[in-house]
Amino acid sequence: MASQPSQLLGGMYTTRVLPVDISKIGDFTFSDDARPFLDDWSLQQGSDNSDYAKVQEAALLIRHSDVPVAFPTETVYGLGADATRSSAVQGIYRAKNRPSDNPLIVHISSLPQLRKLLREKSEDKSSDPIPQIYHPLIDHFWPGPLTILLPLPRPSPFAPEVTSTLQTVGVRMPSQKLALALIQMAGVPVAAPSANASGKPSPTTASHVKHDLDGRIELILDGGPCEVGVESTVVDGLSKPPLILRPGHISLEVLRQFPGWEDVQVGYSETRLDEAPKAPGMKYRHYSPRARVILVKGPPSEGVLASFEDTTKSVGIILTGTRVLSNGESCRHLRSEAACHQRGNMSVWTISIGPSIADIARGLFSALRELDDKRVDLILVEGIDENQGDAAAAVMNRLRKAAETEVLS
Ligand code: TXA
Ligand code: MG
Repeated sequence: MASQPSQLLGGMYTTRVLPVDISKIGDFTFSDDARPFLDDWSLQQGSDNSDYAKVQEAALLIRHSDVPVAFPTETVYGLGADATRSSAVQGIYRAKNRPSDNPLIVHISSLPQLRKLLREKSEDKSSDPIPQIYHPLIDHFWPGPLTILLPLPRPSPFAPEVTSTLQTVGVRMPSQKLALALIQMAGVPVAAPSANASGKPSPTTASHVKHDLDGRIELILDGGPCEVGVESTVVDGLSKPPLILRPGHISLEVLRQFPGWEDVQVGYSETRLDEAPKAPGMKYRHYSPRARVILVKGPPSEGVLASFEDTTKSVGIILTGTRVLSNGESCRHLRSEAACHQRGNMSVWTISIGPSIADIARGLFSALRELDDKRVDLILVEGIDENQGDAAAAVMNRLRKAAETEVLS
């Protein structure tokens, strides 16, 4: 497949990056027995106004402009717009060149906000618009990296571009306080996909967003690197049995511990890319850096490296697993900066992103982008056992989508 440009062309704005210190935005206050952020909460401007003012500026853009604003969440950076205005939501698709049939997640900052939104145009004002099956998950995981599918109210309070032709809407309450403050100050639900150019790895720092969308948006709020590093788990509790539509930080094993979710099934397809796709269009790349990506079972061996020596000038390796030392002991790879050595005529850049699954999830997209910056032609990634829980299934899902093939080590 032809490689995509690492930056979109045709920017028309001067993109400003505003660093925000979350501890200086102001005071978050909750009433006595309120659950933090789930129930009503408020934010008072602190004595030092500058960080509050930056979030307020972004909130005003979301409220009034048709150019989306990039902001950090705990998973990845999002590209946000007022979910109730078509012209604003169209601005998201334009900025990141996203196919318009891919629906967007709506981000909210409290449950009262969500309930009001779901009820406001509906005739039924009394029953709970959030289906019972989601209550235990909301109590436990919100605010946090979980997206739930809700029946789309008729008439819908959301711009049709948010949900495409679907009868459901994906909703999540992020836990990053900067994101919560932004949504609350904007006073509207915020539709936000990941803030990358379509097809690229999701951004986990403000500089990743700037790299992809420079000139195409006006403002990036910089709240530092994202804690989780892979996108939210998307669940569908409306189907029987309930389904995971996208694996994320919250695993199948963990979801199964909640009432109503004991039998949750995998609802996404894991077509291996070296198998024939089951339907045309299933085999598309996503999360892809400029370089070719090959997923390797185990650390790439001498034999694998030798097979690329004649055709490849520069190769990147991302290590994730257990390494056996010369004294026979094994150790986990620790996170390291990219280091280079020569192998004949080939430069070999190596990055380790372990040791834990959480570290691997946090470092994966960043490592793919870092190796692109080194201009490597090929990236070999050591796969992990996707059945070990936590974000392991999410990591392998993103790697399969980024890779064009899988090989044995
Ligand atoms: O962690 C995240 O979820 C990030 C941050 C920014 O919140 N957002 C994110 O958005 O990853 P995006 O647009 O890159 O991915 C949204 C995913 C897509 O796979 C989309 O197909 C799915 O959610 N989705 C959204 N609404 C849906 C719906 N109504 N039915 C099925 N899938 C839906
Ligand atoms: Mg995305």
